[in-house]
Amino acid sequence: MNDVFDLRDLALPVISSPMAGGPSTPALAAAVSEAGGLGFLAAGSTAPEAVAADINAARVDTTGPLGVNLFVVDAYEPNPVLLDSYRRSLQPEATRLQVALGEPQWEDDHWQAKLDLVLDLRPDMVSFTFGCPADDVFDALAHRGILSCVTVSSLDEATAAVARGAGSLCIQGHEAGGHRATWDADASPSTSPLMTLVSAIASSVDVPVVAAGGIVDTSTSRALMDRGAVAVQAGTAYLLTDEAGTNATHRAALVDPNFTRTTLTRAFTGRWARGLENRFIAEHADAPAGYPHLHHVTFPLRQAAIAAGDMEVAHLWAGTGHSHVRSGAAADVTRALAP
Ligand SMILES: Cc1cc2nc3c(=O)[nH]c(=O)nc-3n(C[C@H](O)[C@H](O)[C@H](O)COP(=O)(O)O)c2cc1C
Repeated sequence: MNDVFDLRDLALPVISSPMAGGPSTPALAAAVSEAGGLGFLAAGSTAPEAVAADINAARVDTTGPLGVNLFVVDAYEPNPVLLDSYRRSLQPEATRLQVALGEPQWEDDHWQAKLDLVLDLRPDMVSFTFGCPADDVFDALAHRGILSCVTVSSLDEATAAVARGAGSLCIQGHEAGGHRATWDADASPSTSPLMTLVSAIASSVDVPVVAAGGIVDTSTSRALMDRGAVAVQAGTAYLLTDEAGTNATHRAALVDPNFTRTTLTRAFTGRWARGLENRFIAEHADAPAGYPHLHHVTFPLRQAAIAAGDMEVAHLWAGTGHSHVRSGAAADVTRALAP
């Protein structure tokens, strides 16, 4: 049994969110860790070989702590009638962008291969979103000195994760950019603000808790740590940094004054996620549940929109603090978020 990584040993209690789909590069993770925080890599929706390459690349640039995030994709059968009708409603957009829509399908995001990989390569921390692994997974991680972390968006999820053996929790408030971590794919998204959740959960569990969602300044970090968080985690705040792999369309939208608000939508992936409100979101407010089926259906559409610089159809994940994000070095953002 190895000593498990302890978040309280971080020089700065700041974590960069895992951000799948490009933003979380090895360079970003390494820069955050070198600045005294904890940099995360996103293994979700990424081939296992690419995840291994990312871990090795980050380790070239830092000897600091490193985190890796995995998706827990439970079996799910969406309503076939709603799924088909939604897919047909997307055909005009696909025709306009000259792409074929993807096929709806369920897959487990290479769960076992990625789990084996992190057990082998031993990053300091492994976090999970969209669900909670079985207790033997937590035991295996702890045995290798890896701190496990389950992302939760309610007190019920928090107590269930700790009962199963989670070594820490990442509490996600409704302000957060990107997908909601909610375990129940059919559930309406929780509206609980981060401050309320952290107060309720930190006092009810005996594992370290990290706070995430809408954090863009030091005073918010301080208030969250006063409520019991041992560290804060931010994603949107890093999207415009030099080291982030955020695509040009997403970067342009984040500084475009026409995008004034974020909203929750299922239109892109069949799972609730927060992004800058654009035409695609507005036109598909009734999109059904269906993750990862709809992620596969809309994938070619989103790729084409990103390539064409089409900000009205691309998915532009961002949290409620989006208007405060700034460009520059990730180390500066890390220091600016530290309490
Ligand atoms: C572009 C983007 C991609 C994200 N991808 C992931 C992911 O792969 N895994 C994950 O657990 N969370 C993901 N998230 C959510 C973050 O973990 C975290 O909850 C969120 O960044 C916190 O809110 P903030 O963006 O307002 O700081 C993503 C967030 C963004 C903005």
